[in-house]
Amino acid sequence: MRVHTAVIPAAGLGTRFLPATKAVPKELLPIIDVPALQLVIDEAVGAGIDHIVIVNSRSKPSIEAYFAESRPVIDKLISSGRGDMAERLQAIGRDVQISFAYQDDPRGLGHAVGCARETVGDEPFAVLLPDELMGTSELLSAMCDVCVSTGGSVVGLKRIPRDDVSAYGVITPAGEVDADGVVAIADLVEKPAVADAPSDLIVIGRYVLTPDVFEAIADLRPGAGGELQLTDALRVQAASRPFHGVLRDVRRFDTGNPVGWLAAVVEIGLEHPTYGPGIRAELERLLRRD
Ligand code: UTP
Repeated sequence: MRVHTAVIPAAGLGTRFLPATKAVPKELLPIIDVPALQLVIDEAVGAGIDHIVIVNSRSKPSIEAYFAESRPVIDKLISSGRGDMAERLQAIGRDVQISFAYQDDPRGLGHAVGCARETVGDEPFAVLLPDELMGTSELLSAMCDVCVSTGGSVVGLKRIPRDDVSAYGVITPAGEVDADGVVAIADLVEKPAVADAPSDLIVIGRYVLTPDVFEAIADLRPGAGGELQLTDALRVQAASRPFHGVLRDVRRFDTGNPVGWLAAVVEIGLEHPTYGPGIRAELERLLRRD
């Protein structure tokens, strides 16, 4: 058994980024010259995934347009001597199969994942939230290995200051974190008050799930915010099956809000081989003005 499919839920409204996201899905907002969605696909492919299921809304057709062939643009690039860029465009979606499932009413993350059920089939699969960037495939790759070896679902974990946990899903560990960063999980809670938080280990937007999660999703009732919460389906799994977390000190950007997106653009931009030096010079010039 190996994990070869990843679900990317991209049907949300992106309300924290309005009005920009009125016309441009937040999943396509650029991180320098590449859409955030592409970086998340690259992360999945780096972890051995060869089939991506994007859960989209029919009101966001530009997500599908990103994967469609753009022959006139490619021909123009080739005829004007920009074959390297033509090749980059042709490579989009070439190393991985891209499928679409639809969620036309954004009823929550649990519901969005449930919309991929038929396309995923009866096998373990990864879920990557496209508004969280990790910059490395190592975490997802380790999570896939733990799913295969334990036969149970796995979530990505990060340790953060206890005072900051109430914006996240937080786990109750069932034991110590081992030398590989793996920890058994007894339970999870969505956005607890700091005083009630069971630990300082938060669930970050990477999951590797066994397919029985679809049954728990089908039974979901509206939870926090009136939405069908993935965390509630994971609680059912954690109560009845092996359920683990993989803890890593990853650099994680939340590109779903303007400040997090800008932090990602600046930090990733500074490392960019072409644009990095120019971005650094601009930032230094701006900071000197103070
Ligand atoms: P978010 O809650 O961050 O996205 O969900 P959102 O709802 O679009 O954003 P805000 O809170 O209104 O600003 C994480 C990911 O899950 C998808 C989103 O598109 C996002 O990529 N999602 C969320 C769905 O596909 N369907 C949903 O019902 C909710």
